[in-house]
Amino acid sequence: MNVATAPIVAAAPLNAAPLLEIENYSGSFRARNGDLTPVLYNVSLQLKTGVITAVVGETGSGKTLVASSILGIQPATFVRTSGRILLGGVDLVSLDEKGLRKIRGGQISMVFQDARAALNPMFTVGRQLADVHQRLHGSGKAEAMEAAVDAIRRVHIPEPARRARQYPHEFSGGMAQRAMIAMAALICEPQLLILDEPTTGLDVTIQSEIMDLILELSRSRGLTTCLITHDLGVVAATCEEVVVMNAGRVVETGSAETIFTAAKDGYTRKLLAASQLGEMAA
Ligand SMILES: Nc1ncnc2c1ncn2[C@@H]1O[C@H](COP(=O)(O)OP(=O)(O)OP(=O)(O)O)[C@@H](O)[C@H]1O
Ligand SMILES: [Mg+2]
Repeated sequence: MNVATAPIVAAAPLNAAPLLEIENYSGSFRARNGDLTPVLYNVSLQLKTGVITAVVGETGSGKTLVASSILGIQPATFVRTSGRILLGGVDLVSLDEKGLRKIRGGQISMVFQDARAALNPMFTVGRQLADVHQRLHGSGKAEAMEAAVDAIRRVHIPEPARRARQYPHEFSGGMAQRAMIAMAALICEPQLLILDEPTTGLDVTIQSEIMDLILELSRSRGLTTCLITHDLGVVAATCEEVVVMNAGRVVETGSAETIFTAAKDGYTRKLLAASQLGEMAA
């Protein structure tokens, strides 16, 4: 077995209990004149504890909207019309801003597509990681900076102490994405890590390095991970469970193996055929 790609600990069993469950979640966008346009239709899915679940589907299918609904950061014009989002029995949609703030960054953290935009250009990368560490864990200044440098080291950025003193514009795109992963997966110490297209816009070689890093961190920390991606090649290499979305609906869910070898849904088969994966399904 190739040591570099070997999982650090075994994947959680696929019959693991769900950490997060979305049940019949529907919603619409409200236009200026008050008209509602439905965009999500009875979305139901489970994120099993310790498992990496992919959410796939073409552009506009509702992936980001579902992820941002979990964190309560959906656009202000989005109106939920039905459904629940349960984390350990608590319905997140019933929480107020204060309750959601406790969950965000603590139990659930998210990595966005554009890392550089998520970092504040005015502060060094180390300072930003340290600030979040202080806020979440009540650590002192020196301890928080130590944790920041350690997190930068653990996402394999060379010379972490020097890099911690740099500003985001001094980082490459891949490095900025590593810094955001350090923030979301290591500094926040979440139970659930959501990554929305974390490698879009990066060179292909950098993309695969970032995916290796995500896999390493998810496995070694037993994180429940939700990976939103267009790339079915990434899904095949990384994920145990797959949720397929199309036009605001979940059209198929199952183990990656089942989806790649015996997809039932016509849209899933089309996606697989387009990506030249899952010949059996095409
Ligand atoms: N602020 C908004 N106002 C109105 N409609 C929106 C808004 N944000 C998203 N939508 C619509 O909601 C639907 C789902 O969007 P979403 O961003 O979740 O798609 P996605 O699957 O993440 O797509 P992509 O792969 O391109 O990121 C789309 O039809 C989109 O046009
Ligand atoms: Mg999106």
